[in-house]
Formats: sequence, C-alpha cells, structure tokens
Amino acid sequence: KKVGLIFGGKSTEHEVSLQSAKNIIEAMDKTKYDVFLIGIDKKGRWHIKNNLKFLLNSSNPALLEFEKNKREVAIVPGENKNQILNLDTQEYFDQLDVIFPIIHGTFGEDGSLQGMLRMANIPFVGSSVLGSAISMDKDTSKRLLKAAGFNVAKSYTFTQANKNEINFEEIASVLGLPLFIKPSNQGSSVGVNKVYTKLEFETGIEEAFKFDHKILIEEEIVGREIECSILGNDYPIASLPGEVISKGDFYSYHAKYIDENGAILEIPAKLNNNRITKIQELAIKAFQTLNCEGLARVDFFLRKDDSVVINEVNTIPGFTKRSMYPKLWEASGISYSQLIDKLIELAIE
Ligand code: DAL
Ligand code: MG
Repeated sequence: KKVGLIFGGKSTEHEVSLQSAKNIIEAMDKTKYDVFLIGIDKKGRWHIKNNLKFLLNSSNPALLEFEKNKREVAIVPGENKNQILNLDTQEYFDQLDVIFPIIHGTFGEDGSLQGMLRMANIPFVGSSVLGSAISMDKDTSKRLLKAAGFNVAKSYTFTQANKNEINFEEIASVLGLPLFIKPSNQGSSVGVNKVYTKLEFETGIEEAFKFDHKILIEEEIVGREIECSILGNDYPIASLPGEVISKGDFYSYHAKYIDENGAILEIPAKLNNNRITKIQELAIKAFQTLNCEGLARVDFFLRKDDSVVINEVNTIPGFTKRSMYPKLWEASGISYSQLIDKLIELAIE
C-alpha cells in the first residue's frame, strides 16, 4: 500500500506532530507500505518533492529545540496565506492508496485537512470533517456531550464579541476558585491556565484569546485523570484505561512534553473492574456522540464519589511510542505497528 503521511503543520503542536510522525515512520512495516512523506512547515507550506526529509531530519531546528527541552510555543502569524499543494494535487493523491494525517490541532485535527482530503477523494485515517471539527471545539463538543447525558465541567464561553461581559466576581461566585481558562480550539494545553486570583484571571483571559476567538472558563474538577483509547468505525472498541498523575499544578504543555518528570502515565490505571467497564462504555459513547471514526483518546475525571466527568475527546491524539494512545493499546494487546495496520485498514474499509 502507498501511504501518504501528512505531518508538521501550522499549529502550536507542530513539534508534537514531528515526534508522532517520526515514530510512525520507524514502526511502519516497509514490506507492506511505501511511505510518502508530506510535510507542512510552520508557515503552512507543503513539502513533497525536494525537501521531503527536512522536517524529520535531526538537524531541523524545531526538532532540535524540542529535544533540547527549550521550546517556546510559537504562534504562526496569520498573514501567510495557507498554501495548498502547488503541484497538481489530484495527480499526486491519485498515486496514493491512503493518507495518514498526523497533524495535531488547528488545520490538521479540526476538519480542515479532512475536508481537503475528502475533496481529493482519497481515504484517510481518523475522523472525517464533522467528527474532527466538533471534537476540536471544546465549547461545541461539551454542549453535545452534555445533551447526551455526560457530566461536563460547568463553564462559561466567551468570544471576542462579548469579551467585555467577562466578570471575575460573578464567575468566581458561581464556579468557585481556582478556574481553568482555555482557548476553545487548542490542544496539548497550549494557552491553558489555572487561575486563583483576579490578576491571574485577567492575564489568563488575554492569553487564551491569543489562540482562539472563543474561550472557556471552567470550574475545577477534582478527581483522577483517566484516559481511554478508542479504535474502530461503526463498532469501536475501547482499550484499558490509563491514568495521568501530574506532578505540578495541572497537566500542562510543560508536563506533557518538556519536563520528563512532569507527569506519570500509569498504564493501565489501577481501577476495579466495574470502573474499567464504566469508563470504556462512556468512552465509546462519547466517540459515537461526536461522530468520531478510526481513533480517538477520550479524557475523563473520576471523582471520589465515583462519578465520571468527561473532559474532552482528541481525534488525533499524541502518537509517539511513549504517548498514552498507543501505550493503552499495547497494554490491551495491540502493538504499536499492529495499531498502524489497523488504522490503515479502518481508513480503507
Ligand atoms: N493534543 C495532543 C497531541 C493529545 O491530545 O495528545
Ligand atoms: Mg486535547
């Protein structure tokens, strides 16, 4: 099979994507697959022919910086028009059997790329336009999950347009303190802050608005952070759940990718069988509620009283060998390279 791997991208999770892609390429069985690398740089330019390997080259400054743990989140300025393939797109895609998009966040995980691939009429791994778009938007996905009966964190949503209605005293009196402030469309906790004071609140609002025109202000949910991996289309299956044990204030970008001791992933999570079954059922239901396909990682909080609060669904979860999504499958009997095979089969079926 000829598989096009699309990676990199304009989002703040560019470096995470490079790591995911690197590990996938290494693990793909080269006797089964011809891999075509399709890199998108931070300016949104596509690299297919000449600079094929530059994004995965260890001398790539972005990767080097990431590996040296000195990375700052880069916000790519919007003035560059997103350049779609400047060669005959259809001709290029026609030679491929399937695309494996492994771009996290904006443009890669939010339905934009999926829409382009649909128009090019090529099968691809993962959710299509609708599932990608609604899962990426925390505001929209929470509304749908709530309507389907899930517990979600209480929150306020604001956009640039009604930003001046944000009132710290009022929100804190309803939701308590601390509060979480998040851009609605983001991943890897970029732009997310946990705030305790009015000053932090105001700074947090400004920061979240740097990443999206819509933000969420959420109550804190106290509980264990439990995650579950889903695989499948119409008949999805759930992995054993895992647990994130954060060392710091919360599971931030720093704890996820920079500080090796920032969080411990306990795989599988120490849970009794009833709780495991309950988490798995809820994860499958969330996957279906949000129209997901192929894969997703569903993130929950398990509270002391045993109630489960859903946090979010990630349709292109971190996919490095050490990431929660593949690790949970490994613990459930599907190896990293078998997982890649299954995802490609699901895309073509
Ligand atoms: N957004 C990151 C990649 C994750 O969910 O794992
Ligand atoms: Mg996420």
